[in-house]
Amino acid sequence: MGTAFNIENLKFKYPTSKNDTIKGISFNVHEGEIFGLLGPSGAGKSTTQKILIKLLEDYSGQISYFGTDLKKIGKDFYEEVGVGFEMPVHFSKMTAIENMKFFSGFYKNTANYQELMERVGLWEHKDVKVGEYSKGMKVRLNFVRAMLNNPRVLFLDEVTNGLDPKNARIIKEIISEYRSNGGTVFLTTHLMNDVDQLCDRVGFCVNGNLYEVSTPRNLKIKYGKHEVRVEYRENEAIKSSVFPLQDIGYNNDFNTLLKEKEIETIHSGETSMEDIFIIVTGVDLK
Ligand SMILES: Nc1ncnc2c1ncn2[C@@H]1O[C@H](COP(=O)(O)OP(=O)(O)O)[C@@H](O)[C@H]1O
Ligand SMILES: [Mg+2]
Repeated sequence: MGTAFNIENLKFKYPTSKNDTIKGISFNVHEGEIFGLLGPSGAGKSTTQKILIKLLEDYSGQISYFGTDLKKIGKDFYEEVGVGFEMPVHFSKMTAIENMKFFSGFYKNTANYQELMERVGLWEHKDVKVGEYSKGMKVRLNFVRAMLNNPRVLFLDEVTNGLDPKNARIIKEIISEYRSNGGTVFLTTHLMNDVDQLCDRVGFCVNGNLYEVSTPRNLKIKYGKHEVRVEYRENEAIKSSVFPLQDIGYNNDFNTLLKEKEIETIHSGETSMEDIFIIVTGVDLK
């Protein structure tokens, strides 16, 4: 697999702001992965996405897209990338299906939007004006719109924000399938669940800086508690003991406990992505 995006020392300042909004970040997005930028509101996630989709061009640093300088790539780019903006983009006086037909008209290669709308539960509401849609319905339609051109790379800004758990799960399933079929995803989120359930790699972003890029699993191993908690029953009471994970097989107290007590649960010390974010960045996401 190649590299979809290579970003080196990216800096960006909005004309109206005093300081850099993006302060020299470097990372890459591998082809065929789901890469997530995780951070609190105002971190610069949407700005980074807008730079990568060539909406904001006045940046410094180097960005290459499949090996070519992003600044040298022409309009064909928009045939290849699908974009879900944080604020759904639709014509509210048109029905959902009219919107999808309209936006499909821009592209050479188009997806089967009926199938997508069915999956996200919107086909039965296809003839309703989008202005009458609820927030969650607009978010789901916005997702379908992002996929209309069968993109090679899919950008999703806060894709599950405002969705109930069932619809969030459906959207995540579609994103995972898209990745399994070779698609590349760049997503931004402030939600831990998105990262835990979806991302192959995640970058922690605060105040225009990128702290650490890794897989959720490696982050948990690196920053997790390396211990095992055993809960057991003794004289009708529930008790618990904690053991270090290192050399656990040789730990006599641990082995004795397993043999002699009525064990109820055994947990390794999982640290949540939320805790890890605080450890790495010093900032609470809440
Ligand atoms: N058009 C703009 N002009 C000036 N400042 C902006 C503009 N858009 C966003 N910002 C500022 O840039 C920072 C990063 O914003 P944004 O990229 O939207 O963060 P996030 O998506 O992580 O919430 C914020 O401080 C925000 O106020
Ligand atoms: Mg944002």
